[in-house]
Amino acid sequence: MDNVKGHFIVFEGIDGSGKTTQINLLQRRIEENNFICHITKEPTGRPVGSLLRQCLAGSIQTDELTLAALFAADRLDHILNDDDGLLKKLQEGISVISDRYILSTYAYQSVKVPFNWVMDLNSMAAGKIHPDCHIFIDTDPVTALRRISEGRPGTELFENEKRLTDVRDRYFELFDKFKDTENIIVIDGTKSIGKISDEIWENVSKYFTRKGDA
Ligand code: ADP
Ligand code: TYD
Repeated sequence: MDNVKGHFIVFEGIDGSGKTTQINLLQRRIEENNFICHITKEPTGRPVGSLLRQCLAGSIQTDELTLAALFAADRLDHILNDDDGLLKKLQEGISVISDRYILSTYAYQSVKVPFNWVMDLNSMAAGKIHPDCHIFIDTDPVTALRRISEGRPGTELFENEKRLTDVRDRYFELFDKFKDTENIIVIDGTKSIGKISDEIWENVSKYFTRKGDA
C-alpha cells in the first residue's frame, strides 16, 4: 500500500439497498462532530464514470466485458487523479467514504464475466489502497426494487430481480472468500433508516478525527 494515513470506508449493497440514504445521514453526524472526511462515489463524475452512467441509463449500448474494463478504469482514475484522488486524500490523512468500490465490480461484473479476469483488471487498484471496512447494507432485491420504483420513474441496466438476486448471491460468496483479508460488516437494510444509521455509526465513528487533529 502507498503510505496512507487516513481511513477508507466503503459502502456496498445492491441498487436501492439504502446506501445513499445512509451516507447522507453519516455525513450529517460527521459534520456535527466536526470530523474531517471526504465523501465520494463510483461510478465517479469524471470522464470514464460519466461514460459509465450513460451505459447504465441505456443511452449508450455496450457489452459486459467492456463495462467491466470501464469500471476498472474509472476506479484507477478515482484513486490516482490529481484533483481529489483517493490516494492523495488518504496520504494527507483525510478519511474517505466511498459509495461503492472494488467489491461492486467483483459482485456485479462476475455475474457475466469470468471472476479471475475481473480480479486481474482490478489488481493494480487493489494494490494501491485497501478499505479499512466495507459496510454492506443487505436488502433483498424485491424490497430494493420496490423502493426504487417508488422513488423515481424508469430503471437502470442492472435494476431487475434476476440480476440483483445474482449480485446479492455473489456478494455473500465474496464475503466468505475474503473473510480473512477484508473487514466486512453486514447490516440488515430492512430495518428502519434510524436504526441502520445508529448501527453504522457504532461501527465507523472510530475512523474519523477532528479538524486540527489530522
Ligand atoms: P441506494 O443508494 O443504495 O440505491 P437509496 O438510499 O437511494 O439506495 O434508497 C432507495 C430508496 O429507498 C429511497 O427512496 C430511500 O428513501 C428508501 N430507503 C432507504 N433506506 C430505507 C429503509 N431502511 N427503509 C425504507 N426505505 C428506505
Ligand atoms: P449506483 O449509482 O451506486 O446505484 P444505486 O445508488 O442504485 O446503488 O451504481 C450504479 C450502478 O453501477 C449500480 O447498478 C451498480 C453498478 N456498478 C457495477 O456494476 N460495477 C461497479 O464496479 C460499480 C462501481 C457500480
